[in-house]
Amino acid sequence: MHPRMHEIRQRTTWFMDARFGMFIHWGAYAVPARGEWIQSVERIPTDRYAKYAMEFVPDRFDPRSWARLAREAGMRYAILTAKHHDGFCLFDSRLTDYSTVHSPARRDIVAEFVDAFRDEGLRTGLYYSLIDWHHEDYPHFGDRNHPMRDSEKYARHEPEFDRYLDYMHGQVRELCSNYGKLDILWFDFSYDNLVGDAWRATELIDMVRGLQPGIIVDNRLEASGDMRKSSLLSGNPSEYSGDFVSPEQIIPPEPIADETGSLVPWEACITTNNHWGYCAADREWKTPKLILRKLVECVSKGGNLLLNVGPDARGEIPAASVRLLRAVGAWMDKNGPSIYGCGPALMPKPEWGYLTRNGEHLYAHIFDENIGPTAIDLSPDRVSRVRLLADGSELEPIESWSTSFWSDRLFINFAPDPLTTCPLPDDMDTVVEIVLSTDE
Ligand code: GLC
Repeated sequence: MHPRMHEIRQRTTWFMDARFGMFIHWGAYAVPARGEWIQSVERIPTDRYAKYAMEFVPDRFDPRSWARLAREAGMRYAILTAKHHDGFCLFDSRLTDYSTVHSPARRDIVAEFVDAFRDEGLRTGLYYSLIDWHHEDYPHFGDRNHPMRDSEKYARHEPEFDRYLDYMHGQVRELCSNYGKLDILWFDFSYDNLVGDAWRATELIDMVRGLQPGIIVDNRLEASGDMRKSSLLSGNPSEYSGDFVSPEQIIPPEPIADETGSLVPWEACITTNNHWGYCAADREWKTPKLILRKLVECVSKGGNLLLNVGPDARGEIPAASVRLLRAVGAWMDKNGPSIYGCGPALMPKPEWGYLTRNGEHLYAHIFDENIGPTAIDLSPDRVSRVRLLADGSELEPIESWSTSFWSDRLFINFAPDPLTTCPLPDDMDTVVEIVLSTDE
C-alpha cells in the first residue's frame, strides 16, 4: 500500500466511524432563494449580486439550535460554507470587505458556527470554494461557470490569476489560523485546466497540513463530483489527493476501491430537497425513510453520508428539513450502534435490506416485510446471540419443520409465533443485532 494511503487511513479513522454529517450551504444566495448557483445561472453582475449580500442580515440565526438539531439527528460532524462560489465570506478576512463581518449582518458566522457545534460535541469542518465569482482576478470571459462568461464587456479582461491564488491561499491560511482546530476542509472544485497545481495545490496543502495537523481534506483540489481525476483512486495518491472522495448526489453502486483493490474513504453528499442553497420553491423533500435507508446503504458500502441543509435568509433551517432530521434522529437514538464504527459486512447483500458490521457485531437492516420467518445467510452455530437492537429484546433463532430444509441459515421472526406474519417493528428499518461466536 502507498505510504500516503497509511496516513490517510489514520487521519480518517474518526471520520469513517462517524458516518453521518451535516452539510450547511448558507450565504447571500439565500436572499434571492433560488439556489447557490443563481449568480452564474442568471448571469448577475457582481455589483447587482452584492445587493443581496448587503441584504443578508439573518436575524433568526441561532447556531446553537442548528448544532442541537444536528446532534439530535445523530450527526457527528458538520461542514459550513465559509465561502461559496459567489465569493461572499461568512468569516472575518483581512483580505476583503466582502463578508458578513463588514456587511450589515456584522457577524462572524464561521466563528459562531464552530463554537456552537463544538459545544454540542460535534467535529467541525469548513467548505471553501476554489472558484470565486467576486474576485476580479478570477477568469471571467470564456470560463465555464463565471456569471460574465459570455459578456463581451470582459472579452479583453486579463485576470492576474496568481493574484487570485495569493488571495485564496491567504484566506485558507486565515481559516486554518483563526478558528481553532478544524477537522475537515472541503475544497470545491476543480474543472477544465483549473486542477491541482493550477491552484498551487502542493503549496496550499503543505500550508494547511502545517497549520492543522490531522485535518481531513476532500479530493476536489484535483477533481469534482466527477471523481475520475482523483489520484486517490489510482493507488498512487498525489500530495493534494485529499483523504476521501466525494460522490455528489449519488449513492455509489458498490464500495469504492483504488486500482490496487484497497478501499478508499468516501462521503456521499446529498441534498434534503434538490438544492444546496435555500430554494424557496423547491418542495421536493426526501423522506426520513429514504434518507435513513441510504445512510445504511452508504455504511454497508464503507462510506459516509453528508446530508445538506440550506437555511433561509433569516437563518432558519427549513421546517421540512427539521422534521426529516428529527425523524432520522429518533431512529438513530436507538439504532446508532448499527451505524457508528460500522462498515461492510463482507457478505453478499441480502434480499430484504443491508448488512453492516462492527467486529463481531453484525447488523441486519431489514427493510422488507416477510411472510413468516426471515432468513439470514449465517449458520446458526456461528451465532452467540440475536437481539432486536432498538429495545434489546431477544429474538430466538427459529427451528421448525418449514425452516429445517435450510438448516445452515439463521431464521428469525418478529411475530409471537415463529411461523406467523406481522408487520416489522420499525417500518423505516428494523435492525437485528447478531453477535458472532466464531473468531473469524
Ligand atoms: C458542487 C456545486 C455546489 C455545491 C457542491 C456540494 O460542486 O458547485 O454548489 O456546493 O457541489 O457538493
